[in-house]
Amino acid sequence: MSDVKPIEKQGARSIGPTAEDIFSQDGDNPPSFITEESYESLGNQTLAPERYTSREFHDLEMKYMWTKVWQMACREEEIPKVGDYLVYEVGDISVIVVRSQEDKFDAFLNACRHRGTQLRESGARGNVSQFRCPFHGWTWEIDGTLQSIPCRWDFPEVTDEGYRLSSVQVDTWGGYVFINLDPSAESLENYLGVLPSHFERWPLEDRYLTANVQRQLNCNWKVALEAFLEAYHVVQTHPQALPFTGDSNTKYDVWGDNISRLLTWSGIPSPHMDNPPSDEDITSMLVYGVGTEARAEGMDLPDAPTARHALAELLKAQMKEVYKADLSHLTITEIVDSTQYFVFPNFCPWLAPSLPLVYRFRPFGNDPDKCLMEAQLLHPVPDEGPRPEPVTRRELGPDDPFTDAPELNQISPVFEQDMGNLHRIQKGLKAAREGVTLGNYQEIRIRHFHKTLDKYLEAGQNR
Ligand code: FES
Ligand SMILES: [Fe+2]
Repeated sequence: MSDVKPIEKQGARSIGPTAEDIFSQDGDNPPSFITEESYESLGNQTLAPERYTSREFHDLEMKYMWTKVWQMACREEEIPKVGDYLVYEVGDISVIVVRSQEDKFDAFLNACRHRGTQLRESGARGNVSQFRCPFHGWTWEIDGTLQSIPCRWDFPEVTDEGYRLSSVQVDTWGGYVFINLDPSAESLENYLGVLPSHFERWPLEDRYLTANVQRQLNCNWKVALEAFLEAYHVVQTHPQALPFTGDSNTKYDVWGDNISRLLTWSGIPSPHMDNPPSDEDITSMLVYGVGTEARAEGMDLPDAPTARHALAELLKAQMKEVYKADLSHLTITEIVDSTQYFVFPNFCPWLAPSLPLVYRFRPFGNDPDKCLMEAQLLHPVPDEGPRPEPVTRRELGPDDPFTDAPELNQISPVFEQDMGNLHRIQKGLKAAREGVTLGNYQEIRIRHFHKTLDKYLEAGQNR
């Protein structure tokens, strides 16, 4: 059997059910933002391996991209009280993000206005009533207002207004605080494009952190990111998922410069499988075996027309019981599928209650061979009662496996399969002579990401 299904205009697609087939079998009319197709070919040029390995390219990213983009700095719930702050860093960029009022966040360059001393150390988090420089004691209020200078008589040129802390743009969406170092950047709302409308039916702000894990990795930040932008690797890297994962027929969409999405089917077998399991077996694997939050010991399998119907029913019941959250308004695809969004340059929120993940990737220091990956789980805040406290953040070193973070539940072994590839990709890219080749459809999000990255680098270099 051929493993390709030609689709006019859009180029080839995998064999196996299409999105339309699956939605029609679900029979519950998913919203248009899910069913919409937003794909176009973006060419087939190879990418130079140096994009991932050279210091020069890293420096260009730092200078022309990271200083211009909206980037997720933290969850609002990580700094819940007035005066709570944390230091967000990428490369040499260091920003203090602080809750300056009950409902207001501020962000400042982490540098003293006197002689530049770092005001708070890298990675610091805590609560303050003011920011005092450890060198000579210049002091600012938490909203950045200059409060006091020892021997002020010696600084006649210093005015209160001219010597506020250097502020950085800050805005919020979905319970996240974003920052942007470019004072003339477009608004966060514009930048996010279609994204907020796609999360209206299951808002990220109505969820709370049940896992917040950072790990240092020995690869470029883009190598790590790109390992999570496609489902093409599932057949080789995560073969245990094939019986219940529609991988090669994953739906990919891109919007504007900043947003893309993959929708990988759950509860149907991979088109790669020669002898796919029955719906009943799929349901039982998903409920009792590996894979999703639906695992619930002793739970009876519902009598449903397909594994997807059964899974959706079970997940809704579980969310109601465990998290007191009513998800009855969501359609099957919204509940069971692995629907993951990407916001340029490094933020990946998932839509799915079955796998309520969020990723963030960024360079570690100024080393193009190292990065930080963060994985969060965000479960629903109960419909009634107080908002649960977020989990404490965990930081793992390069040799600490994700399985050291039990709060990530059954996802860790899957991450470990991905991790096994990353340092080898980085090493291979250094040895490579030819460019990186991308699939037209399955790797469109990687190409889209590099196109946007190039827009920033070209705009910066042409200025
Ligand atoms: S460098 Fe900060 S007070 Fe002097
Ligand atoms: Fe993976």
